Amino acid sequence: MTKYIGILTSGGDSPGLNAAIRGVGKAALNHYGMQIICFRDGFRGLMENRSMPLDGGALSDILTRGGTILGTSRDKPHRMPVGGKLLDMTEVIVGNYHDNHLDALVCLGGGGTQKNALRLHQKGLNVITLPKTIDNDVALTDATFGFDTALGIATDAIDRLHSTAHSHHRIIVVEIMGHRAGWLALGAGIAGGADVILIPEIPYAVESVAEAIRERSRRGKPFSIVAVAEGAISRQEHQALLAADKQPAAGKKKGGKKAAPEELAETQYADRTIKLAKQLEQLTGLEARVTILGHLQRGGIPSATDHLLATRLGTACAKLIDQGHYGVMVAAHGEGTKAVKLEEVAGKVKSVPPDHPWVLSARHVGTSLGD
Ligand code: F6P
Repeated sequence: MTKYIGILTSGGDSPGLNAAIRGVGKAALNHYGMQIICFRDGFRGLMENRSMPLDGGALSDILTRGGTILGTSRDKPHRMPVGGKLLDMTEVIVGNYHDNHLDALVCLGGGGTQKNALRLHQKGLNVITLPKTIDNDVALTDATFGFDTALGIATDAIDRLHSTAHSHHRIIVVEIMGHRAGWLALGAGIAGGADVILIPEIPYAVESVAEAIRERSRRGKPFSIVAVAEGAISRQEHQALLAADKQPAAGKKKGGKKAAPEELAETQYADRTIKLAKQLEQLTGLEARVTILGHLQRGGIPSATDHLLATRLGTACAKLIDQGHYGVMVAAHGEGTKAVKLEEVAGKVKSVPPDHPWVLSARHVGTSLGD
């Protein structure tokens, strides 16, 4: 019996998504004799039944293309904006899955997608996911596709910022994506030779950062590159967030549910980065500039490593569908792959352990972590 599989991409786009679609698609069509229907713009497209059949022609020439040919959105099945309201559209999605006679649904996404996929799996759908995100923060996988490409872009940016910081005797604070995780800033900071790296997992003291920069000036290097992760916070902010978490009134969200400290910390990454640059200017006497790399880090041609990873995970996914193995994320595991239960992945974030070998490497080459 021919199996019909649906594919969608959900959450922020990530280099390697097209390579993954191609990997699942080619293996499913050519090796296992399945049929494929793709849904546009993530779970929204499945809810609105906006689909397109995927044949060999559509899979050709997409391996190296950035973004996702399917389009994506951050819409969640159980909280979907419809007619100005947030509605639970799960039952509509379940209905469309059955109306399309799907045997399986492949969801390509990051941490949020794993949670949404689990909810659909619990509604009886045969769901299987692949881990993509430039943030590298999906639990229980060695890697996520997109990270390596973004790492290369952010490293190149830091490298380029060195010469201008050096010429003008300036501090350049470069903000690097990563949401609540510091992998991208830490990796690019080390690879690009940043003088200071600030990540959410290690709250910083602004005076320590300033002292690291002043010390460089004393050694005849009156310029510094500070790589700051989007979610990096000072010790004071960290304390304030913990205190807000303990005081229900201060940490209340609309609707009465208490906001997690991490959610409060997410507000206005750029404002906090600019404030940090101003503080460093005052504390060091050096002029400071801010560079926010933003979505540049997600755009363009994926790296070879991401092509390879996405293809490996995609083809492994088709094999698992052929075997009828559902309710799992296809994780990268050494040189191979591993099926990890969605229950084990959903809701978990892979943060940088403060004693991670990368952190130790950064310290050993004299990089300040701001603590
Ligand atoms: O999760 C990927 C990511 O690029 C984060 O690093 C960043 O915080 C966020 O998405 C930005 O989201 P958006 O593209 O919706 O602005």
